[in-house]
Amino acid sequence: MTDRYAVIGNPVEHSLSPLIHAEFARATGQDIAYGRMLATLDGFRAAALGFRDAGGRGLNVTLPFKHEAWRLADTHAGHAQAAGAVNTLRFDGGRIAGHNTDGVGLVRDLVDNLGCPVRSRRVLLAGAGGASYGVMEPLLRELPQTLVIANRTPEKAVALAGHFEKVAKFAAHGVAAKSYDALDDARFDIVINATSAGLADAMPPLPRGIFAPGALAYDMVYGRRTPFMRFATDEGARAADGLGMLVEQAAESFFIWRGVRPETKPVIEMLRKRDS
Ligand code: ATR
Repeated sequence: MTDRYAVIGNPVEHSLSPLIHAEFARATGQDIAYGRMLATLDGFRAAALGFRDAGGRGLNVTLPFKHEAWRLADTHAGHAQAAGAVNTLRFDGGRIAGHNTDGVGLVRDLVDNLGCPVRSRRVLLAGAGGASYGVMEPLLRELPQTLVIANRTPEKAVALAGHFEKVAKFAAHGVAAKSYDALDDARFDIVINATSAGLADAMPPLPRGIFAPGALAYDMVYGRRTPFMRFATDEGARAADGLGMLVEQAAESFFIWRGVRPETKPVIEMLRKRDS
């Protein structure tokens, strides 16, 4: 029998997840159907449980429901516990397992696809919302030299750093929280934009000169060239969007559900061609 999965969010109509999972299923010979579910802002729990009760095997969860999905889960695997956010639910009989594959997806895209190891690098993470919570621990476990968090509202950067205090030791020089104008003349090898500014065609107020020679600027937003990416290119850095992260996090979800790891590169290439 075909196993059913879906992505649930609001909005959800532009999600590429159904396309990505259909490709994974075709390539691995898995018999699944993967759809889209729009939930009302106060209707996440009812919609997710309704899907499970109708025989659904798992859900990907997107904005704005990742925190609610964390609360819905009976167990939290790996990074999901500390992230406080869940993007993958697996329904096993009566039990709901929550996972967060966003951070793993980001790290795989950086390291495997873009050839940019995090180890011993100076990393700047711009933004202190849900997207940043999801990637903090996986980034730190790559053993960067330093991880600096900058945010428009500095208290939120401080709260984020405090939340991950226990894993801060994985960065050789620790984790620091700053406002953008306190970045002064710091230089970074990897600058990750985890703010939602790009969606509004804006960018975080990063000072000029923050990119070290050969730096990578990574925007978690995908499918468009954001002001942050244009800024980075003007500053001489290499710029990447978040499409690879999207596909990699999907592959990790697929693995959690099916126990099979799909190849990601052909799917990333297919989506890039479709975009251009
Ligand atoms: P989510 O939890 O979905 O990530 P969020 O909590 O609203 O959403 O976080 C969005 C992030 O983008 C925040 O870090 C936000 O900065 P503030 O904490 O100061 O609000 C950041 N952000 C959004 N628009 C921005 C902009 N134009 N410039 C700088 N930062 C921006």
